[in-house]
Amino acid sequence: MSTNLPFKQMLGPDALKGKNIVVTGGGTGLGKSMTAMFLQCGANVLITSRKEDVLKNTCEELAKIGNGKIAYAVCDVRKVNEVEAALQKAWDTFGNVNAWLNNAAGNFISPTERLSHKAFDTIVDIVLKGSYNCTLSVGKKWIEEKIPGVFLNIVTTYSWTGSGFVVPSAISKAGVLAMTRSLAVEWAKYGIRSNAIAPGPFPTEGAWSRLFPEELSKKLDPLQRIPLRRFGNHEELANLAAYLMSDFSGYVNGEVVTIDGGEWLQGGGEFNNLDVIPSEMWDVLERMVRGKK
Ligand code: HXC
Ligand code: NAP
Repeated sequence: MSTNLPFKQMLGPDALKGKNIVVTGGGTGLGKSMTAMFLQCGANVLITSRKEDVLKNTCEELAKIGNGKIAYAVCDVRKVNEVEAALQKAWDTFGNVNAWLNNAAGNFISPTERLSHKAFDTIVDIVLKGSYNCTLSVGKKWIEEKIPGVFLNIVTTYSWTGSGFVVPSAISKAGVLAMTRSLAVEWAKYGIRSNAIAPGPFPTEGAWSRLFPEELSKKLDPLQRIPLRRFGNHEELANLAAYLMSDFSGYVNGEVVTIDGGEWLQGGGEFNNLDVIPSEMWDVLERMVRGKK
């Protein structure tokens, strides 16, 4: 999954100067790419996940491209004490924390009736509980310290459509979106903004191995679902995330920005599948339709 660092950046090298950001799940995939962009824009970033070796390697790699500093903390977002320790480490390292990206997630495809209760709990605990564990700890600290912070939450387009075969993820992401919109209103009085990004498919090892295993991709080409007929580039998502973290988006609050090549709308529009009709057949169809007086 090539990410071609450093990325081309929409914002300047100082656009996130003074931002001290924590990125959960920042050692891999989209979290790593957004971290790279934040660093390129001058932020300091602390990345977290469960695997120290992965975090260490990512820190070594990204320290070479950034303008800001990078650090890590091992932290399972399901455990409040580990979340608070990671927050404290970032605070001690950078002087404070004023932005937080809830990106860590777990997911896999399965018919719902095949799931054990533990399997269901595992996804809900990482995605929904993990996100509110972080949000509650960080939000309380920001309110106490009078810090006008920024939350950015990574959801999906099935947060509002729902989706079969990923039901624990769908209900959890729906909850994270509801939290984003709720706190955007409730905590605005403290100067705290909350926004979300809903990505369509962006190739990452973590998502592809669990959601599009090879045997499935041979049968169902995921590109056919996307009007733009391509997957997203990490650079595109990372630039959007940098904007939402920056002061340039200071009046954006409670928004979810979809970045999916039009994928979710393709399924929604009643007649979108008429794309398969060749133009000669449109001649026949037009005669038939016009013939109905
Ligand atoms: C059915 C499964 C299963 C599967 C695990 N389980 N995989 N059940 N089908 N494929 C069950 C296990 O049997 C167990 O239940 C329970 O789930 C917990 O499994 P563990 O392996 O013990 O959990 P854990 O080690 O905590 O690992 C969590 C994980 C794993 C979610 C299962 O995949 C993980 O670490 N994922 C992190 C990264 C990730 O998922 N990235 C993708 C994000 S992509 P029992 O009852 O048997 O004990 C994404 C994209 C969304 O979110 C939109 C895309 C367009
Ligand atoms: P990924 O590389 O697998 O990222 C998930 C990250 O979460 C990993 O770094 C993982 O690290 C971490 N994580 C998992 N469980 C955790 C836990 N209990 N505590 C702390 N960290 C944990 O997959 P990705 O594709 O980049 O996904 C990133 C985000 O984008 C997720 O929110 C996902 O739902 C969302 N998303 C992705 C796509 C896509 O197409 N890729 C589309 C829509 C939304 P450890 O295993 O080391 O803990």
